[in-house]
Amino acid sequence: MSLVVAEHLPTDPEAEARRGLSAMALGIVGSEILKIAADVRRMQAEGQQVVNLTVGDFAPSEFRIPRRLEDAVSAAIAEGQTNYPPSDGLPELRRAVRSFLDRELGLDYPLEGILVSGGARPLLYGAYRAVLDPGDVVVYPVPSWNNNHYCHMVGAVGIPVVCSAEDSFLPTPELLAPHLRTARMIVLNSPLNPTGTTFSEEALRAVTQAIVDENLRRQQTGERALYLLYDQVYWTLTLHGTRHVDPIRLVPASAPWVILVDGLSKAFAATGLRVGWSCAAPAVTARMRDILGHVGAWAPRPEQRASAVMLDDAEATHAWLDHMRTEIAARLDALYDGLSALRAEGLPVEAIAPAGAIYLSARFDLAGRAGFETNDAIRKWVLATSGTAVVPFNAFAYPHQDGWMRLSIGAVSVAQCHACVDRIGAALRSL
Ligand SMILES: Cc1ncc(COP(=O)(O)O)c(C=O)c1O
Repeated sequence: MSLVVAEHLPTDPEAEARRGLSAMALGIVGSEILKIAADVRRMQAEGQQVVNLTVGDFAPSEFRIPRRLEDAVSAAIAEGQTNYPPSDGLPELRRAVRSFLDRELGLDYPLEGILVSGGARPLLYGAYRAVLDPGDVVVYPVPSWNNNHYCHMVGAVGIPVVCSAEDSFLPTPELLAPHLRTARMIVLNSPLNPTGTTFSEEALRAVTQAIVDENLRRQQTGERALYLLYDQVYWTLTLHGTRHVDPIRLVPASAPWVILVDGLSKAFAATGLRVGWSCAAPAVTARMRDILGHVGAWAPRPEQRASAVMLDDAEATHAWLDHMRTEIAARLDALYDGLSALRAEGLPVEAIAPAGAIYLSARFDLAGRAGFETNDAIRKWVLATSGTAVVPFNAFAYPHQDGWMRLSIGAVSVAQCHACVDRIGAALRSL
């Protein structure tokens, strides 16, 4: 007879957890977006049509992974690629990443600086862990994705720098300057989740140069270094002629202190395959490898093998990325053009022209009207009246209640984008 474990668990599990768990675990906050997903599921269960612009993921029905990659995963399993991979990644994948970045970005990293992991997330966490001690200061712009949670997990003091629509929600050198002396790490992301905007060459060069200057100063005084964690997971998905910029190409002297994080998830619509990579100074990479090795956060071996096959095929990769950019642009443009037309009609909505990633920044300019005191109230109204599910920037640590939302297109068709704009227009006109 089975032992029914539930009968032996505490009757008040929360009280027991509060007595037993770490302050970190008790203070952890789960994904804010999942709460919105529950609203969407409820509406769908009631039979209502919802255009779901909340998920930062791809629906395989809209964005299937490339055939070359899919076949290579199956072939790797059939070949018996099923044991532990090396803790820094399969050598053939690290070599493939190296030539991919060299070929596409003109960045030739030493092989010992390249680390493969189970998607970009473990690498971000590994970078936080490798650089920071509890109490160290991390500076990051908001809105941005997950930095508040990583700070919490490593006990760092997070300093959010609030960015504005006028700057496309990217931090200017002037905004970051007051924090250079105290920070141990600055975390930047471009193209940016949640806004779909990108760093200009001029701004990123100035920020990176300031980080180099600060490090040269600290070398004189013996203070600990200032790192730049640069998350470029969407860099292949830039749109309408936008060119991705990376700090090392702009300021080569920054190489000792830059940790680049990148991966397969977004570029190849392969979020479930779990393959990411980072590039950093070899001594930093070795520590990240050992930290993540103990966590066991390797990318699955068959997927690593398949990723190497995909990246090494320059022609297939180019064709694929062209296809991705075309499909993404069609959806984001449908939303952007549609919302801009509503604005031209005099309705209280605006959007920022999409430059990259799978996101559009849109503002429902209703804040201050009765019933619209918070962004969440606006979000609920948009959902109820137009069946369009969006995520307030507040889910990305943005403090203002000014109507800015993230619209994500990975799970919807072009036709759905047009349809939801029509419904949003009707809802706004009825106000
Ligand atoms: C900016 C950014 N970095 C990293 C990730 C995580 O990527 P992965 O799925 O490879 O862990 C995401 C996912 O949404 C993201 O938006």
